[in-house]
Amino acid sequence: MGLAWPCASAHCLCLVVTLSLILLVSCSSSSINSQRADSLSKRSTHLKMDQALLLIHNELFPEKFTVYWRSDQCYQCLYQTLAKSDQRSDRASDVAVVDARHPMTLQINATSGNTELCRVHYRFREFGNYSLWVKNSNSSTKDIACNIIINQNPVYTNLPIVIAFFIYVAIFIVLSLGSFLLRLNTVQNWLCKRMNPVETDRLINSELGSPRADLGSQDPHFATWNAAPQRLRSLDTFRGLSLIIMVFVNYGGGGYWFFKHRSWNGLTIADLVFPWFVFIMGTSIHLSLTSMLRKGNSKWKLFWKVLWRSIQLFLIGLFVINENYCRGPLSWNDIRIMGVLQRLSITYLVVSALELLFTKLLPDPVPQNRTCFLLQDVICYWPQWLIVIVLEAGWLCLTFLLPVPGCPTGYLGPGGIGDFGKYPNCTGGAAGYIDRLVLGEDHVYQHPSSNVVYNTTVPYDPEGILGIINSVVMAFLGLQAGKILVFYKNQHKQVLVRFFTWSVFMGVISAILTKCSSNEGFIPVNKNLWSISYVTTLACFAFFLLMLIYFLVDVKKFWMGGPFFYPGMNSILVYVGHEVFENYFPFKWKMQDSQSHAQHLTQNLVATSIWVLIAYILYKKKIFWKI
Ligand SMILES: *[C@@H]1O[C@H](CO)[C@@H](O)[C@H](O)[C@H]1NC(C)=O
Ligand SMILES: *[C@@H]1O[C@H](CO)[C@@H](O)[C@H](O)[C@H]1NC(C)=O
Ligand SMILES: *[C@@H]1O[C@H](CO)[C@@H](O)[C@H](O)[C@H]1NC(C)=O
Ligand SMILES: *[C@@H]1O[C@H](CO)[C@@H](O)[C@H](O)[C@H]1NC(C)=O
Ligand SMILES: *[C@@H]1O[C@H](CO)[C@@H](O)[C@H](O)[C@H]1NC(C)=O
Repeated sequence: MGLAWPCASAHCLCLVVTLSLILLVSCSSSSINSQRADSLSKRSTHLKMDQALLLIHNELFPEKFTVYWRSDQCYQCLYQTLAKSDQRSDRASDVAVVDARHPMTLQINATSGNTELCRVHYRFREFGNYSLWVKNSNSSTKDIACNIIINQNPVYTNLPIVIAFFIYVAIFIVLSLGSFLLRLNTVQNWLCKRMNPVETDRLINSELGSPRADLGSQDPHFATWNAAPQRLRSLDTFRGLSLIIMVFVNYGGGGYWFFKHRSWNGLTIADLVFPWFVFIMGTSIHLSLTSMLRKGNSKWKLFWKVLWRSIQLFLIGLFVINENYCRGPLSWNDIRIMGVLQRLSITYLVVSALELLFTKLLPDPVPQNRTCFLLQDVICYWPQWLIVIVLEAGWLCLTFLLPVPGCPTGYLGPGGIGDFGKYPNCTGGAAGYIDRLVLGEDHVYQHPSSNVVYNTTVPYDPEGILGIINSVVMAFLGLQAGKILVFYKNQHKQVLVRFFTWSVFMGVISAILTKCSSNEGFIPVNKNLWSISYVTTLACFAFFLLMLIYFLVDVKKFWMGGPFFYPGMNSILVYVGHEVFENYFPFKWKMQDSQSHAQHLTQNLVATSIWVLIAYILYKKKIFWKI
């Protein structure tokens, strides 16, 4: 073991240097951040993004009332106090700030006796100025009417997205035209070469030649997984796609709610990408381990390699999400332990170990065995399936049977004001309890997305311990996609049919588990819990998307996978880089109006595009960060 331990080499030094760099850069950026927070707090009197103004007019004066509100997004929530009408005369009005992201119900109760006067359902729009009039509609019957009137029109918040979309379409057209012309240029060069070889060589060397000419043959990724020149660009494209959305979402997604994580149950664009990343990791694990085993590497050697990579990933993750060390050398008392890279690292370790333990080295190409022809890519791996099913059973048992003090057993809700405020401290049920028990309250994520809508107060980690089981399942489904690719190599139709079948199968399971609703199902789709229905739903999308990309990129070669292909080839660098350099110039600058979606969107899109560009340049220079 001592000899096999790879840390003996330069690897360790490399890791130490990386970690110190992360430490240095994020410390200086956290100080920039605190300065920025000061300048922001001065403008607190203005409306913020996603808010609107509501003036409350009481025509029942001197009778008083209270206005309560509940967002449609908040499932089975308590009403919260919005404003009390305590004006001194009947001509004045009270001012309240309302949420403009989702429709909401306003309930107006008389202060004396807490009886309901009326109720309105309304969708406020960003920066609008509205009035709520509460008056007697019929003086003889004492009917009370509540009406909402627009004083000043709201802004159309989604316009910047439409504009950005057209800008990207324009860029795309320009780039494709450019590359088309370059290809024409290649043709010209070729013609020139016929006539004047020296002149053309000079031209090519001065980088006027087609950049695509030599593409691919040196791809390290493909070179390792198979000696044959079959390259799967679709995997890197898919990985890059999820990574780029992840970067955009992490940078703030323009401040739009649908580019942020869902508060509890349900899906937004932001909730799609992490499982896809895990999925494609599983696919790559199968391809790379298969090729390395075929090259004659021993399983032990590969295992040590996998272990070392996981440890590195875990440590890098720990350094990336914590800026505690900036406050002093030893302020580790509220360090967050689990995070995205940590989750990836553990999932990688478990799935790779599973693969190394049970994989049977199949000859290449795989012989089509008659007895279990149809499902041989599943049946040949039954021990793995058995273990995964046992793990999943463990998840179900812990989630639904573990007694949590003060909370109902099997609770899956957000706590806070959800479930009519009965279980305020039960956020995440067993999953939250296990984290708080094992890691400690201070070492889990302090700002879960549930506190946005559900007013939760307990910390909750969306990348917590219990969820690891389901991300292993997700990676295992990705592994299955890898097995399909290896089993049915060069049989495109078989691969596509299998991807499609898996997608439908996963879709059916999700439909049953969720009863096709976001909140009412047996197990709702939930990113915070990484519920099993979340995994099956996202696997359904992943198989389908992979099928599409595989068809376009690897079968028909209509699309080269750009621009997603490049970040997909350098995913660790882009992920760590985008986190570490988050607060530096080309990725962030001081906005003129920090409450404008347009400016946030511009900044986030520019930052994301720069990362794509960086990945492209590094790809051209053949620089890849591999751990
Ligand atoms: C408003 O009054 C109704 C009864 O008329 C009551 O059921 C409801 O709970 C009250 N709302 C709040 C937030 O207290
Ligand atoms: C007020 O209510 C009474 C009794 O229901 C009805 O006869 C009358 O038409 C109503 N007046 C208005 C202005 O709606
Ligand atoms: C909202 O509209 C009312 C009535 O038109 C006006 O008096 C008030 O100044 C407006 N408030 C803001 C912040 O624009
Ligand atoms: C929830 O936790 C808070 C703070 O720890 C505590 O004050 C409150 O009493 C708890 N509520 C319940 C219902 O246990
Ligand atoms: C929800 O949070 C807000 C501020 O964050 C607070 O004012 C309000 O009282 C909370 N509501 C409940 C029901 O705890």
